[in-house]
Amino acid sequence: MEPEVLIFEDQRQLNETLANRLQQLAPEAVEKRGRFLLVLSGGSTPRLLFRLLAQEPYASGIPWSQTHIFWADERAVPPLSEESNYALAQELLLSQVPIPNHQIHRIQGELDDPHSAAERYTETLRQVAEEGRPWPRFDLVLLGLGSDGHTASLFPGAILPLEQEQPVLAASGTYEDRPPDRISLTPAAINSARQVFFLVTGGNKAPAVAATLQGPRDLERYPAQRIRPTNGSVVWFIDSEAATNLERNKGEDNVQTS
Ligand code: 6PG
Repeated sequence: MEPEVLIFEDQRQLNETLANRLQQLAPEAVEKRGRFLLVLSGGSTPRLLFRLLAQEPYASGIPWSQTHIFWADERAVPPLSEESNYALAQELLLSQVPIPNHQIHRIQGELDDPHSAAERYTETLRQVAEEGRPWPRFDLVLLGLGSDGHTASLFPGAILPLEQEQPVLAASGTYEDRPPDRISLTPAAINSARQVFFLVTGGNKAPAVAATLQGPRDLERYPAQRIRPTNGSVVWFIDSEAATNLERNKGEDNVQTS
């Protein structure tokens, strides 16, 4: 299925539209399966969204007590570090809503070896998975996009054979001045999700957005092209600056501007 691409002039409207869709999905998941499995990502872009979700109507409209939180990736840093993706979500969102602690499944970035953290998270995912599955089928995965085309901690470069079989891997990548050692969900884990939302803003992302969505298929160079849920859908929420390089007249009726 082709991704749906929504382009917004206004950041507030972009984040509200995403939050509203999330608020629709969550009760449906709880009604059908008793829980809502939500994967968060890091980086600076989701700050606004996290703040918004901590406020009404989302604070009481989303069934937080039946929500399980996971991360698409984590940097190899302690959970109190300013660089921790967990710390960001915890501060802006998770500490503000009634979500039981045992339903917050963070990646242990503080472990000496990111490979051990990846193994532990693999085990965490196995424990939360539906019976007979190696990892859970997430209801919603929120992802960002780097200006180099990376998503989660899937950086441009070789595709590892183990990525097909394992949900989590140790990764590394140099991006801005951020910690290079990472732990990331694999495309296999992300692509088993029911829904994936990309949240991308800012003119520096424009070339990567266009290359990922409309450029030639080059999975090693543009890792976000690897995100294609087998049995789910993808929505891109982007602002007009990040959309600058998109060809809007390609006859795609899945691109909408607000
Ligand atoms: C991280 C992320 C990463 C992020 C992109 C975009 O740990 O850094 O999870 O994949 O989504 O780097 O980051 P910005 O939102 O800060 O541009």
